[in-house]
Amino acid sequence: MAHKILVVGGAGYIGSHMVKRLGQLGCSVTTLDNLSGGHRDAVLAGELVVGDIADRELLDRLLARGQFDAVMHFASFIQVGESVKEPAKYYQNNVSNTLTLLDAMRGARVKKFIFSSTAATFGEPQYTPIDEIHPQRPINPYGRTKLMVEQVLADYEVAYGLRSVVLRYFNAAGADPEGQLGERHDPETHLIPLVLQVASGRRPHINVFGRDYDTPDGTCIRDYIHIQDLCEAHWLALQSLMQGQGSQAYNLGNGSGFSVQEVIDAARAVTGQPIPVVDGPRRDGDPARLVADSALARSRLGWQPRYADLTSIVQHAWNWEQKMASRNVIQP
Ligand SMILES: NC(=O)c1ccc[n+]([C@@H]2O[C@H](COP(=O)([O-])OP(=O)(O)OC[C@H]3O[C@@H](n4cnc5c(N)ncnc54)[C@H](O)[C@@H]3O)[C@@H](O)[C@H]2O)c1
Repeated sequence: MAHKILVVGGAGYIGSHMVKRLGQLGCSVTTLDNLSGGHRDAVLAGELVVGDIADRELLDRLLARGQFDAVMHFASFIQVGESVKEPAKYYQNNVSNTLTLLDAMRGARVKKFIFSSTAATFGEPQYTPIDEIHPQRPINPYGRTKLMVEQVLADYEVAYGLRSVVLRYFNAAGADPEGQLGERHDPETHLIPLVLQVASGRRPHINVFGRDYDTPDGTCIRDYIHIQDLCEAHWLALQSLMQGQGSQAYNLGNGSGFSVQEVIDAARAVTGQPIPVVDGPRRDGDPARLVADSALARSRLGWQPRYADLTSIVQHAWNWEQKMASRNVIQP
């Protein structure tokens, strides 16, 4: 069925893949993005409205005109380190501006919402894999902003009937298998694109922070979820809301973690490049292991990751990186 969806932050990495997918699925899509971190040419379906979710008048106009069935909210600032140095920027955009969006939705009686949350809401893991009942004790402002919105959503459901699906991604990775889209953050802080920028010659080396963790090869283990699998989870979450199911939070990951060293080895195998490494000390706040338990998404949404293997993730990201390197996009 063709739904009318407002995708906020749809010019960014994850949002742009979602916009493309919704277009392929026959939905009518409108993207709202202020292009602070997104790219105009990444919006491949529907209409792009360049604007800010802080702009209530714009939101009111857009929502009145659009008659949307649901809003997907990808717009936020995303860098953990920056959130420690500039918390005000994060609380303003990720919390306060999200409240503006939710209140505009309330005014327009749009009652279905899909929210991009994060593994960072859990903080230091008490056990792994991390399921939905794991305590949420974020250890940085970024994680706290996302947890605050989760809490707001719970209260808004009780008081205003807003139904939401919270999707807590672990590490989004990979790129559009058709090669039209990929990760283009500036600055880039995510491991896979950084490693591949070394492979393409756009960076001299990759830093590995800590080789003395309690993991098989001593480097940190993270859970990488292919961007296409992430989009599929959003689509299934949307279906669940459209079918009248209640609010729910889901942890989304592959369920199998890969170490930093395994990512580098996979990138060497895919690219055929040596990828120089510089070892450094551990970084503060980096847990040894962050792996999702996504059993709930599998059982309730019927979600099944299609690209769970690291090679597919790295291969798709490499196809994209070669495109970026040839265009010389973003000098790292
Ligand atoms: N990338 C990951 O691995 C990851 C992991 C967990 C959670 N998330 C969450 O997923 C979402 C998307 O992440 P991403 O990697 O695609 O980030 P991104 O920076 O590529 O995309 C965010 C988009 O939101 C837009 N935006 C930001 N503030 C805005 C505002 N006030 N008004 C309008 N547009 C605004 C930016 O221009 C950008 O296009 C974020 O909420 C992030 O916290 C991402």
